[in-house]
Amino acid sequence: MRDVNATPFVQQPLCASDALVERGTALVFDVTLWGQPARAFAMRFDGRAVAYMNRCAHVPTELDWQPGEFLDHDKRWIVCSLHGATYEPSDGHCIAGPCRGERLMALDLVERDGQVSWYPTPDIQPLSFD
Ligand code: FES
Repeated sequence: MRDVNATPFVQQPLCASDALVERGTALVFDVTLWGQPARAFAMRFDGRAVAYMNRCAHVPTELDWQPGEFLDHDKRWIVCSLHGATYEPSDGHCIAGPCRGERLMALDLVERDGQVSWYPTPDIQPLSFD
């Protein structure tokens, strides 16, 4: 059993800022969610870097229709590839579909000096931590 008091909540480097292109392909990365391997993704939308767990609020399945491709044809909404739940990229809020009113699990990102990093939480941890 993991010692929660030893869990690092320190900033985790993710990528260079220019790796996240406005409404481009997202960066998918490995984490643990509640102690189990899972994936998260980061993208840039309206100039801001955002990150969420790659986990639909309807059924806990990955959202992308191709690796790293989360946005619809118009690059406006995140759309789940399974049943079409539609999420606002800026805040992860589901605005249409079977889980309307719910939201994606957000990761806390910071962008500074050309570097994007994220902060672990008790629920979401780096994959490599043991
Ligand atoms: S699993 Fe995403 S909408 Fe059903």
